Amino acid sequence: MNNETPTPAPTPTHASNLTWHPDTNMTQFKQTNYPIIERAQGFYMHTTDGRKLLDGISSWWCVSLGHSRSEIVERMINSLKTKQHVILGGMAHPSVIELSQKLANITPGSLNHSFYASDGASAVEAALRMAIQYWTNIGVQGKNRFIALQDAYHGDTMGAIGVGFLESFHEPLAEVVNRAHVAESPNCLQCPHGQQPKTCNVECFHSMKQIVTKYHSEVAAIIIEPMVQGAGGVKISPAKYMTKLRKVCDDYNILLIADEIAVGFYRTGELFACNHSNVVPDILVLGKALTAGHAPMSVAIANERVYNSFENKIFWHSHTFGGYPSACEAALAVLDIYKKDDIYSTVKGNGKELRRIIHHCAQRLGVAHETIGMVGMMKLSIAEKGGCMAKAVQRGERAAELAKVFTNAMVEAGVFVRPLGDVVYLWAPLTIEAREFDLIQHALNKGVEAIESFGHS
Ligand SMILES: Cc1ncc(COP(=O)(O)O)c(C=O)c1O
Repeated sequence: MNNETPTPAPTPTHASNLTWHPDTNMTQFKQTNYPIIERAQGFYMHTTDGRKLLDGISSWWCVSLGHSRSEIVERMINSLKTKQHVILGGMAHPSVIELSQKLANITPGSLNHSFYASDGASAVEAALRMAIQYWTNIGVQGKNRFIALQDAYHGDTMGAIGVGFLESFHEPLAEVVNRAHVAESPNCLQCPHGQQPKTCNVECFHSMKQIVTKYHSEVAAIIIEPMVQGAGGVKISPAKYMTKLRKVCDDYNILLIADEIAVGFYRTGELFACNHSNVVPDILVLGKALTAGHAPMSVAIANERVYNSFENKIFWHSHTFGGYPSACEAALAVLDIYKKDDIYSTVKGNGKELRRIIHHCAQRLGVAHETIGMVGMMKLSIAEKGGCMAKAVQRGERAAELAKVFTNAMVEAGVFVRPLGDVVYLWAPLTIEAREFDLIQHALNKGVEAIESFGHS
């Protein structure tokens, strides 16, 4: 190595072919000047070419407290200095013992038994397997299928795809995954039952009830993303859907798995999204904001009923990095911050501000929108006649293309966001402040201007 010639900062062309980016059209991607993040601190990411971007989607929904919080990083480093990996098969370490205790304390009901994995999808796999084995453990045969919701997403491993099959993502796997029974999901923005929030009697639940009635004897569990279906289009659902779901599970002897990988830890305004309805699932799956994105860690937490069925039986399931010590320390530091900094109250206040700016922007565009906690979305394909978006669509533009135009303008203005089909959404760190809201508002205005002028030049 020649010390006199410093290594040049990587440019998009250096990186493009050798890293195969997820969910990315690589052919188009390598032709763009995509951001390369050199440093990320607080709410901002800094690129190698000197740009500063506010993280509008918490880096795939996990960086709930901003990037590189020193309290979290320090605990991780201290942990790494004493040990790296500890095999959890047949051993433990103090950090995992403490974390399991804390999780048992903060989760509702008897959700007391934490099974650790690394990514969300691997915890979903564990939850699905736990549910199937629960029934064989107690001597009930044939309950080995699942019910999931339309537009659900639970990760990209084969079992998770089976319960979250999204045509646009998973179509090539249609023949090979074991697909769940799929029930209609709540679609409050454009209720197919013609209801408004005030008149809603959860008519959409009828489909679930029908499937349960027909197939309950073969169903191990129903899996759901409570309150918000994320990757399937940021669809927000009424809390009473969960109440009905819990009851139907109890009535028909089916386990309930709540996948809160995306929404757990205050994202919807409550510590857990299930808390909106006081529903306690049999298995709760968490990830992402568990370590606020500081380490890959996920967990499937089983209640006493599920756990006790394994007495003297082995759950033959493991992930090498499950319960990794420094990831446990990250989670412990994060749980401390959530409590110490009263993130619950922060989200209450920030949620109001988010609602205000999303509402304002959606009105300018003339599109449907929804918010819950620190999630805000606008669906560009549901446009009011005569509004700015409807005019653009009339000119022959597709809503999904316009969503890209909108988000590109936001990125240009300094806020990193990605569209989800025809949906523009915000999932910023929970703790952003007035300065960040101003920047987001500015970027949203730029998005509106881009739509207004699109197709005119
Ligand atoms: C609800 C839900 N479940 C599971 C997953 C999969 O998590 P991971 O990408 O960490 O595997 C995601 C990812 O976005 C998710 O939103």
